[in-house]
Amino acid sequence: MTTYAFSTESPADIDAGLLILPVFEGGDPGPGVRETGLREAFGAAKLSGKKGETLLVTGRDRNGGRDAAGFAAGAVLLVGVGPKTEFDVTALRRALGRVAGTARRFGSVATTFPLALGARHATEAVQAAAEGLGLGAYRFRRYKTTQKDDDGPLETVTILGSANWDARAARDAVVRADVLIDAVAWARDLVNTPAGDLPPAEIAKVAKAMAKQEGIACTIWNETQLAQGGFGGILGVGKGSINPPRMIELTYRGAGARTAPIALTGKGIAFDSGGLSLKDASGMETMKMDMGGAASILGTMKAIARLKVKINVIAAIPCSENMPSGSAQKPGDVITHRGGKTSEVLNTDAEGRLVLADALAYLAEHEPVCIVDTATLTGACMVALGTDVGGAIGTSDELAAELIRASTATGEPIWQLPLFADYRTLIDSKVADIKNIGKRYAGAITASWFLAEFVGDTPWVHLDIAGPAYSEHGNDLGPAGGTGMPVRTLVRFLQDRAGARKR
Ligand code: BES
Ligand code: ZN
Ligand code: MN
Repeated sequence: MTTYAFSTESPADIDAGLLILPVFEGGDPGPGVRETGLREAFGAAKLSGKKGETLLVTGRDRNGGRDAAGFAAGAVLLVGVGPKTEFDVTALRRALGRVAGTARRFGSVATTFPLALGARHATEAVQAAAEGLGLGAYRFRRYKTTQKDDDGPLETVTILGSANWDARAARDAVVRADVLIDAVAWARDLVNTPAGDLPPAEIAKVAKAMAKQEGIACTIWNETQLAQGGFGGILGVGKGSINPPRMIELTYRGAGARTAPIALTGKGIAFDSGGLSLKDASGMETMKMDMGGAASILGTMKAIARLKVKINVIAAIPCSENMPSGSAQKPGDVITHRGGKTSEVLNTDAEGRLVLADALAYLAEHEPVCIVDTATLTGACMVALGTDVGGAIGTSDELAAELIRASTATGEPIWQLPLFADYRTLIDSKVADIKNIGKRYAGAITASWFLAEFVGDTPWVHLDIAGPAYSEHGNDLGPAGGTGMPVRTLVRFLQDRAGARKR
């Protein structure tokens, strides 16, 4: 557990294991650099403030007293952040994320980073600073039998601010950050946990425990109940696995009983082998991450409950394991989805849309104001946008714009792709209502057309996170593995909808 503090002390006087200060490119020292007497140090080290540069200056002498250099902290980390004109909340979060591993070695940290953005952005900057440090310090060591020197959470984070700032708003900002850090870490843990230890029933179990803890209503649908309910997609995909499917239904009430809910769903494929349309060995190396959408919806629910966001949300999360076996569904099989629509399964590796179809149809029955789904759905989306950018595709450009605004604010990049009308016919089937694959091109869009069949008239946007849900090599805000994307975007979106954000 990390303790947060807010201080208006001089950076020179702050007592912390490590004091982190920004240095702009172009000779301008960041807040605290002059006060700590380190104005010349960066230049003397032949550094110029470029993004990614760091200089660690130790302070205390052998007796633990204050160093002649003039700062009380155990050490100061000067961090190059690039030109001042390009420095914003996103850059701030990422810069602190990059040094969070170093920060953790010192236990307690303090930073002046929010002061670098000016009073107008103070609250956002305080939240982003805490987020950067917390997200960047995440590690997944459950399966490591050896300790590392950056193990364990940050003990204390002290944000240095101005006496003119609204101290209460700053405190609220670190509380928001702390809830988000926790929810993202939890979602990352779920993604990073091997599929062998996290089959659908186990995902459902941890979801239920979370719901109980946070006061969210939770119903788990087992395979018998799913059959009775007509969830042919969830069952069809799960047929080849000895681990039976589940659907997790969560109802969060933060607003009046008459207020229509926002509906969320996320793809929960515990492991995607491709099924009988089997992937090759390298294609399935990371496929424990194919429940990243489900994990992010679970993390989102956890966060909004803890933040008491004044909004109603219903989530239905389909969890199946996609395996080949004598009982697996076969290419050419026709399945009947929730609500009665049929689909021809020509490729069992296009399984995400099959499970999501049932969940979307179920959610649409509840007449929500809108539906948002998120899924590690297509390699095609990665071809279009690369590994770092999510795709947004849906029936409402307004809703897509809203989600993209939230994603810009949180630094989880999302770009809209068109639900181009002419491509709808690419999923026409000769035997069923639709088929589960299109042709070679526009794979992210044909997958979306499949999903669109199940949302009725409800405004809907699908977020394809095949790339950004999982980081092969790690990024500024975390190590290799699950990223927790787009938990922070969805929470932000829901907060904005609730009008609950305090500035
Ligand atoms: N889970 C995969 C998509 C994926 C691929 C996510 C790589 C993350 C990294 C999905 O179920 C899948 O296999 N999609 C196929 C669809 C195709 C068969 C139409 C794909 O993208 O190749
Ligand atoms: Zn998949
Ligand atoms: Mn697949």
